[in-house]
Amino acid sequence: MSALRVVLLVGSARPPGTGNSEALGSYLLARLAEGGMGTEVFHVHRCQRPEKERALFEAVGGADVFVLSTPLYVDALPYLVTRCCERMAAHRAAEPQEHRSRMVALVNCGFPELEHTLTALDICGVFARQAGFVWAGGLGLGGGEAIGGKPLEEVGGMTRHVRGGLDLAAEALLADRVIPEEAQAQLARPMIPSRLYTTLGDIGWLRTARKKGTLRRLWDRPLG
Ligand SMILES: Cc1cc2nc3c(=O)[nH]c(=O)nc-3n(C[C@H](O)[C@H](O)[C@H](O)COP(=O)(O)O)c2cc1C
Repeated sequence: MSALRVVLLVGSARPPGTGNSEALGSYLLARLAEGGMGTEVFHVHRCQRPEKERALFEAVGGADVFVLSTPLYVDALPYLVTRCCERMAAHRAAEPQEHRSRMVALVNCGFPELEHTLTALDICGVFARQAGFVWAGGLGLGGGEAIGGKPLEEVGGMTRHVRGGLDLAAEALLADRVIPEEAQAQLARPMIPSRLYTTLGDIGWLRTARKKGTLRRLWDRPLG
């Protein structure tokens, strides 16, 4: 019997090897590979040409597990992800799929609270069901920028709970179960205290304003 296959689609616009979504998705993929699954990775911004898009759709069609790992953009899925999902659903409706594929979504956001990701995760669940996947569940993560686009192991202790949650998700997927609630509970533990996170965000914001010469205009209210 051939090995089970997992396909990861990275929804970030960042170049390969630099994004937080890729770091999260790659960690999960590595655990699934340890469990014997064959892996393949696509980046949504590299699947715009018809032949690349076709390759993605065919890989997903033959996969046992489809993982979408994406950032949150403006409280929802990035445009390229939405477009890709719509086109994938149309493709799967036109060419009925014989293979049973499960789908998992990982959505990370910049704000420290993972609640911002819940609508996007719901959208992923609706897409999965409408496009004929078996929905295996989704995981949201707040404060994603703390990962800095690095492999989770390299980020160190701060990502311990994130890795713990993804380990539980991998175990469940390898056993053909849905992602357990405990996995989300692990990802819900903040990587750094949210007060510290917003203070560091403020400092970054002020530094950028100083560099761009707009520091004194930050509190302007041009529209009254
Ligand atoms: C265009 C854009 C819109 C974003 N909108 C949100 C948002 O609505 N809420 C939020 O918490 N983070 C938002 N973010 C932050 C990203 O979700 C966050 O930085 C994420 O970790 C980026 O992941 P990536 O490295 O995989 O691209 C936004 C980022 C960009 C570039």
